[in-house]
Amino acid sequence: SVLEMEVEQIKKGSYDHFMQKEIHEQPHSLTTTMRGRLKDGGVLLGGLKEHLKTIRRCRRVVFIGCGTSYNAALAARPFVEELTGIPVTMEVASDLLERQGPIYREDTAVFVSQSGETADTLLALDYALENGALCVGITNTVGSTLSRKTHCGVHINAGCEIGVASTKAYTSQIVAMAMMALAIGSDQISTQVRRDAIISGLSSLPRNVIEVLKLDVEMKELASSLINSESLLVFGRGYNYATALEGALKVKEVALMHSEGMLAGEMKHGPLALVDENLPIIVIATRDACFSKQQSVIQQLLSRKGRLIVMCSKGDASSVCPSGSCRVIEVPEVADCLQPVINIIPLQLLAYHLTVLRGFDVDQPRNLAKSVTTQ
Ligand code: G6P
Repeated sequence: SVLEMEVEQIKKGSYDHFMQKEIHEQPHSLTTTMRGRLKDGGVLLGGLKEHLKTIRRCRRVVFIGCGTSYNAALAARPFVEELTGIPVTMEVASDLLERQGPIYREDTAVFVSQSGETADTLLALDYALENGALCVGITNTVGSTLSRKTHCGVHINAGCEIGVASTKAYTSQIVAMAMMALAIGSDQISTQVRRDAIISGLSSLPRNVIEVLKLDVEMKELASSLINSESLLVFGRGYNYATALEGALKVKEVALMHSEGMLAGEMKHGPLALVDENLPIIVIATRDACFSKQQSVIQQLLSRKGRLIVMCSKGDASSVCPSGSCRVIEVPEVADCLQPVINIIPLQLLAYHLTVLRGFDVDQPRNLAKSVTTQ
């Protein structure tokens, strides 16, 4: 109706689409995710406090989710392992159920879901509860089934997300899980310095998000050079393996373009066969312990005439691409384990502009639903 359309427009404010609004809202949504939770140099998560001791004693953490929420958990995996010393395994909810994979009383099962209502995730939750695991929820929806049925958890407080493609919930989920990892690991003296650095990285994150959002125009230009491509590959590793998967997911779900995120370490085991002068490939090569490995990936791709777009830390353009033959996206450098929060944003912008330029519906992609409540 006309009224509904007007209400929609009011909610979008000066933006054309909800996805665009939600991408640009991230400095604010991340601030609300952290509000009141970073205190006196430590982390305070009311919804977990009573269960931290149990979690510290568990045999493993199992992350469970679907779609973007699964990718957020994958981004969290490295720092959860690092800060807690607890082994972390990953489960796509439907796959865990189909395999009836082993879940034990000694496990901490962490369920990640923006809506808190995804059918597969909720069925996996019932399954984990039956098997006696401690069940933790990471969700954006207060009062959701996930939030009610889990033993404890963290609300990400990103604010209502309307665009079918999840953007601000993804970055807030990662930040919520970073705070969770810091809280679990807070009894370890050996990682105190590292934890302090991450906490200070969290406080400066909104400022760096404002900075990276300035790439909007550049990403629109990049999008216009890719409108007619049939496919787009994204290579990442380490902390940014998840960034590669999530960037590719954004491109396929809204821009309706084939896209795959790949682990750069697997490149020579298959994907290298696809490389030619036409296929666009994004390589994520921001500063962290994997940097030199990504530099050599870039060299290998260039020697096969790959058409490269390299994402690197500010000032690194000539170190990642000395020949000058790549397109470079420079992003602000933050604490290495938080870099995925920054790195996904240019890819969200790219997917957004690619969709608009290709003439597709940004907020309601073909065949998709915001929340999949049936199996
Ligand atoms: C659907 C949505 C995705 C979302 C996924 C999981 O597929 O289209 O954007 O990532 O469900 O949703 P959840 O609410 O559980 O995070």
